[in-house]
Amino acid sequence: MHIPDIIIAIDGYSSTGKSSFAKRIAREFSFNYLDSGAMYRAVTLFAMENGLISDDCKIDVDSLVKAMETLDVHFAEGGTFIGDRCVEQRIRCLDVADKVSPIAAVPQVRAYVDARLRELGARRRVVMDGRDIGTTVFPDAEIKVFMTADPLIRARRRADEMVAGGKNVDLESVLKNLQERDYIDTHRETSPLVKADDAVVLDNSHMTMDDQMVWIEELIAEKLCLR
Ligand code: DC
Repeated sequence: MHIPDIIIAIDGYSSTGKSSFAKRIAREFSFNYLDSGAMYRAVTLFAMENGLISDDCKIDVDSLVKAMETLDVHFAEGGTFIGDRCVEQRIRCLDVADKVSPIAAVPQVRAYVDARLRELGARRRVVMDGRDIGTTVFPDAEIKVFMTADPLIRARRRADEMVAGGKNVDLESVLKNLQERDYIDTHRETSPLVKADDAVVLDNSHMTMDDQMVWIEELIAEKLCLR
């Protein structure tokens, strides 16, 4: 199936497999993949390393906004970079995950990330995953998916991923982090995680990646009248 130069927005809860799904879509249809969560994680790491967020998540917003003027977060071979330093592995650690939702709730941080994402998506043919891609970043995306899955299944998936990456984790703390992030993401004032009216829900609790690919191909074919 040849797919034209559209934007595919994959939003949804943490650890529903959005990025694996989006990467697979990118590979199969020759789209560029953009991981918006990685940008929030990189800004969070930057804030942590510059003493702009305390252990109990108090953020020095004014200093952060000032420091972001020269912050260069981008994607390149190897993943996410701050300047010329690859932070791809570092931003996946639990200490960053613990602080990312409060950072992502700061309106100026969202404005910074939105602007970067819109620049990167301007040429279209991109699949982007996040929380507000279909509602705020690209409300004109032709295909919008809203992903959800059972919380315990999501926690197991994330824990397995972390163990595979050589990290020490226990399921309880992963589940707790995930539920906290769900809460903050859905309750923040700026761009909360909500399903766009024209997004289609995908509950993948009991679906394989291949099942999901069949599902999205059908959705794209139907929405774009490709068959
Ligand atoms: O997808 P992820 O788990 O890597 O995202 C990390 C955090 O970034 C998540 O807790 C919420 C936030 N985020 C967001 O607010 N908006 C997005 N478009 C993507 C991520």
